[in-house]
Amino acid sequence: METTLVLLKPDALHRGLAGAILARFEAKGLQMVGLKLMRITPELAAQHYAEHVGKPFYEGLVRFMTASPVIAAALRGPDAVAVVRRMMGATFGPEAEPGTLRGDFGISRSFNLVHGSDSPESAERELKLFFPEGTLAWEPATAVWAWDDEDAP
Ligand code: RTP
Ligand code: MG
Repeated sequence: METTLVLLKPDALHRGLAGAILARFEAKGLQMVGLKLMRITPELAAQHYAEHVGKPFYEGLVRFMTASPVIAAALRGPDAVAVVRRMMGATFGPEAEPGTLRGDFGISRSFNLVHGSDSPESAERELKLFFPEGTLAWEPATAVWAWDDEDAP
């Protein structure tokens, strides 16, 4: 069982796609254990995207991510990190496969709607940045039909 960090980026909110994107994760069976509308500060953006500091696209990336509010979500489920990455699709809209979020909802090479942690280690680090207060454990009434002990021992 894993928990991963998802960010609905500023373009998702401005384009009115935040609910549709969250609905896809929800329908997949991922459980929301953290959810907040927030503004990313330049300091938080620098920590979150530390691996990209110095790259040609870095300044634009920080400008984009800090331009207006985002929604941060902590999503839990079996293999949640990899499942979310597959659902997001390739980084850039024009290359993302149909059926993925970036493939279905965007065509920009700059604005790509959604972030998902790229490994369990990244998820742990990023969840601490965005949910320093921790996440919220709860038992969904339908969990017994979404996954079972075989999926998530
Ligand atoms: P993310 O971290 O946001 O989930 O995206 P990702 O793993 O698919 O892509 P990553 O390589 O981590 O890049 C982070 C974000 O930087 C922007 N980017 N622009 N112009 C470029 O070459 C370029 N490369 C990356 C994208 O917004 C990407 O999501
Ligand atoms: Mg990344």
